[in-house]
Amino acid sequence: MKIAVLTSGGDAPGMNAAIRAVVRTGISLGHEMYGVLDGYQGLLEDRMIQLTSKDMSGMLSQGGTMLGTSRVPEFKELPVQQLAIDHLNARGINALIVIGGDGSYRGALALHELGLQTIGIPGTIDNDVYGTDYTIGFHTALNTIVDAMDKLRDTSSSHRRCSIIEVMGRTSGDLALYAGICGGAEFIITPENPIDKELIIKTLKKHHEEGRRHAIIVVTEQLFDVHKLAAEITFKSGFNSRATVLGYIQRGGRPVPQDRILASRMGSYAVQMILEGISGECIGIQNDQLIHSPLKYIVDHKKPRAELYKLVGKIS
Ligand code: ADP
Ligand code: F6P
Repeated sequence: MKIAVLTSGGDAPGMNAAIRAVVRTGISLGHEMYGVLDGYQGLLEDRMIQLTSKDMSGMLSQGGTMLGTSRVPEFKELPVQQLAIDHLNARGINALIVIGGDGSYRGALALHELGLQTIGIPGTIDNDVYGTDYTIGFHTALNTIVDAMDKLRDTSSSHRRCSIIEVMGRTSGDLALYAGICGGAEFIITPENPIDKELIIKTLKKHHEEGRRHAIIVVTEQLFDVHKLAAEITFKSGFNSRATVLGYIQRGGRPVPQDRILASRMGSYAVQMILEGISGECIGIQNDQLIHSPLKYIVDHKKPRAELYKLVGKIS
């Protein structure tokens, strides 16, 4: 077979490890492997390269994605998707593995519905893909955030400040939630757990009066202006407050072992699924077991998180 792989949406540490596993598994089983450059953009522009086992050398530990990635809004349109299929057909490529988040999965689903054999691998720092406990990249980004939080706590405590830390995640609060648990945040504000400003200020005032030296609030991006919240906390709670927006630093860096293992397992499994003739499905990990589910089902569901938020309520 001729099997292609692409990465799409936000890059995530471990994407390269997944590409490596896909390519080396395919080659070891006697197939020709191709990389599509820059995600769906490269598919539209017919930019693909044949990959060898040697090309994968050193990729296991590299952050980002060696194939490049993109966001292509017009990929939602049928004629554009058909053009992508035409390019693959012209090259005799029979199957495509898409590594990305739920948006990329919607693109993969469209290609499957147009007759292309397609498999999805969850690759995004946001961990917002239903049907998998973790996505590739999440643990590395979490590690980076927790490291930053520990550093911010040192300086906050020295100055007796309240530190607000804004993290990525788009519409998913997982990075903030998990980082908040790991970093001992007093408050975690996410799309699933909206801000209760009165409670925050009342609690911080009490903590300040009790003589606590620092407070940490972790917030998912795009919810509100964290600098304005810092000013309000400074004005009303007794704690001097500062906000830090972590930004793109969260998306880079060498993948942690958990992401390397996850990516290696999923990449190899994706090729196995292709060879079994499966299409329109995506891979997940649940209780350390690889599973696969229909893309159509996965893109329409959101992960439940109520239990973790209850935990935060008890231990913060
Ligand atoms: P992620 O895959 O990380 O969620 P995006 O949501 O930005 O990232 O999606 C990545 C790309 O997937 C988009 O730029 C677009 O090319 C494609 N995509 C997103 N939604 C759809 C859709 N409904 N139909 C087809 N392609 C889509
Ligand atoms: O999906 C990954 C992610 O890093 C989100 O957390 C964030 O909102 C978004 O990508 C940023 O995307 P861009 O690189 O297009 O600014």
